[in-house]
Amino acid sequence: MNRRYRRTIIAGNWKMNKTPAEARKLVEELKPVIAKAKWCEVVLCVPFVDIPIVVRLLKDTRVAVGAQNLHQDESGAFTGEVSGAMLKGAGCKYVIVGHSERRQYVGETDALVSEKVRAALDAGLRPIVCVGESLPQREMGITKDLVTLQVKTALTGIGVDQLKKIVFAYEPIWAIGTGKTATAEQAAEVCEHIRTVIRKIYGARPARSVTIQYGGSMNAENSEELLSMLDVDGGLIGGASLKAKDFIAIVNAANQ
Ligand code: 13P
Repeated sequence: MNRRYRRTIIAGNWKMNKTPAEARKLVEELKPVIAKAKWCEVVLCVPFVDIPIVVRLLKDTRVAVGAQNLHQDESGAFTGEVSGAMLKGAGCKYVIVGHSERRQYVGETDALVSEKVRAALDAGLRPIVCVGESLPQREMGITKDLVTLQVKTALTGIGVDQLKKIVFAYEPIWAIGTGKTATAEQAAEVCEHIRTVIRKIYGARPARSVTIQYGGSMNAENSEELLSMLDVDGGLIGGASLKAKDFIAIVNAANQ
């Protein structure tokens, strides 16, 4: 974290977990603590159907609500899809874009991710853009080249004013849901690389204000060390965001 230049953001990604009733229970447990976090912003990225209840429960707090995906078009005949304007209207501030699970299971490409980043910004949402390599890609030594391409493509056509609204999340696929966390050094190396890519496009000052999170088996035990790295400005947390005690511990580690 480097709070002098950028916000620390801890975001829970609930993925396909929690019915509205379960969401209410979890938020009621989380709220007394996360609503008090002063030094980091807390975001809950919840399933579409949970957005209304979570927005309502967090109404008078600084905790933000996010979605996990949006469609790239404004509206139209896209059965089953949800637009940025709908999410904004429902009370979302953030939306995850290009999560590796969507790249892997739904075939989202870098080009589509770039369209979705623009759609999110146009709707007044802050996209959390996920990038990261698979294990074979890491072993081939192409992590940085791949991440460079993912970041550059996501930023196609994005002006410096809009850059301020974008959050990046470095999520190595081999660390997601596996219990195998990247070391703090590995996380910091790629987060720093992402900032370098941004610096080359927009210059030093805009680049140093971008929040770059780490995600992948971040938990109560390892969060403090990961967040101690200067270029790791927060976390995108899957499994550990589903249990109040664990998520609170991570928020506390970021809120010191
Ligand atoms: P886990 O924290 O469960 O590894 O998931 C990370 C993730 O994919 C967050 O978007």
